[in-house]
Order: sequence, then C-alpha cells, then structure tokens
Amino acid sequence: MTSADGTRLQALLDEQIGYYRAIATEYERHALPFAGATELTAALDAFRPAGSVLELACGQGAWTTRLLRHATDVTAVDASPEMLAIARARTADDERVRFVQADLFGWRPDRRYDVVFFGFWLSHVPAERFPAFWSLVADCLEPEGRVFFVDDAYRTADKLIEGERSSTIRRRLLDGTAYRIVKVPHRPRDLERRLARIGRRIEVRPTSGPFYWGAGSRA
Ligand SMILES: C[S@@+](CC[C@H](N)C(=O)[O-])C[C@H]1O[C@@H](n2cnc3c(N)ncnc32)[C@H](O)[C@@H]1O
Repeated sequence: MTSADGTRLQALLDEQIGYYRAIATEYERHALPFAGATELTAALDAFRPAGSVLELACGQGAWTTRLLRHATDVTAVDASPEMLAIARARTADDERVRFVQADLFGWRPDRRYDVVFFGFWLSHVPAERFPAFWSLVADCLEPEGRVFFVDDAYRTADKLIEGERSSTIRRRLLDGTAYRIVKVPHRPRDLERRLARIGRRIEVRPTSGPFYWGAGSRA
C-alpha cells in the first residue's frame, strides 16, 4: 500500500469512528428490519461463550448483556465514548464487565481470553486490515480459545457511492449528515474459504435473513 493509500484508508477509518460516535443516540432507530436476528442469538447461546470473554466493537452493549448470560467476565472494547456510555448504563454497573475505549486498529490486549466475540464488526474491517485483524484475534485468545461473530452483508444501492465493487459506502444520520464507512459484503461460504486461506478453521453460516454467524477456534 502506498502512503497516499494508507492516508486515505486511515481517513476513512477515522470517519467511520466519527459516524458511530454521532449515531450513538439514534443507533437503534437504524436497526435492520429483517428476520434472522433470533437465529443469531440462538447460535450464540448454542456456542456458549463461557469463561473470560472479550467483546470487540461492543457498541451500546446489546450483545454484552447476552454474553453475560454465559461468561464469567466480559471485557468490551469500542472506539466511541458515546456508545460506551450507553453500554455502561445498559449493563447496570455489573462488576463482571470492564469497558475499554480504544481504536481496534491500534489496540493490543493486555491478557488472553477464552472467547473473543464481535457483533456487526467484521464487515467494517477493510480488506487491507483483514489478516492483521485476525492476528489480533489470535493474540487475544488462550491456546484453546474460541471465536464467535455475527454480521450482515446488507447494502442498498443508494449507499454504494463508489460502486458495487467498493467496500466504501455512505451512511446518513436521521438529520441527513453523511459519512463514509467500510461495509464489506462478505458471503458466508467465501468468508469461510478466505479464513481457511489464512489458517483459521471457522464455520460461517447464513441465517434465513441477511445475517450470518461464524464460530471456530483460535487456529
Ligand atoms: C455496527 S456497530 C456494532 C455495535 C455492536 N457490536 C452491535 O452489534 O450492536 C460498530 C461499532 O464499531 C465501533 N467502531 C468503529 N470503528 C472502530 C474502531 N476503529 N475501533 C473500535 N471500535 C470501532 C463503533 O463505535 C460501533 O460501536
């Protein structure tokens, strides 16, 4: 990657953080109105995220509360202080949760975990950062650790400001303010193969809606 490309990508990732900071108070009003979400929670419960769990890009903590049904403790990381404030309120001072404000593209773990979870985050990791992100996941996990994620590939035509093949899309706040963010439309089978190529044994399964989940081990 040239430094000009690197600077452009960093600006996009900064704008993505800016978008999530700005949308925090209206986030739930942008939820996707599709079937399949309950299949994600069922798959997560079947996976049983027990032990010490690390949640990446926790947002408002919707998944954090679900993880706490199984976990001994949860460390939840997000770049947006606005999202984290809502997540803190939602988990009602549960002593088993530790929140960390950090940019995941620079953050390093200070310990290892039994499970790493991320909800609707992988699609926001650009292709250039995909291998490094999965190295981070491995570095966060105990040798026998496991990983689980959920996501979607939903992008409407009006958001594809750089065309169908680009992973840069536009999102708007309710007041119309526009931001560019990354949205990689992974397909479950292709994602599974791509992960296998970088040495990860992860099963990726679609739901009946636009969502998919992935589960696997550290390797
Ligand atoms: C689509 S939301 C998902 C939130 C939550 N996991 C959920 O499923 O509701 C993406 C989250 O990623 C966070 N985020 C964006 N860029 C980030 C970065 N570079 N480092 C850490 N978090 C980031 C945003 O603040 C936002 O909370």
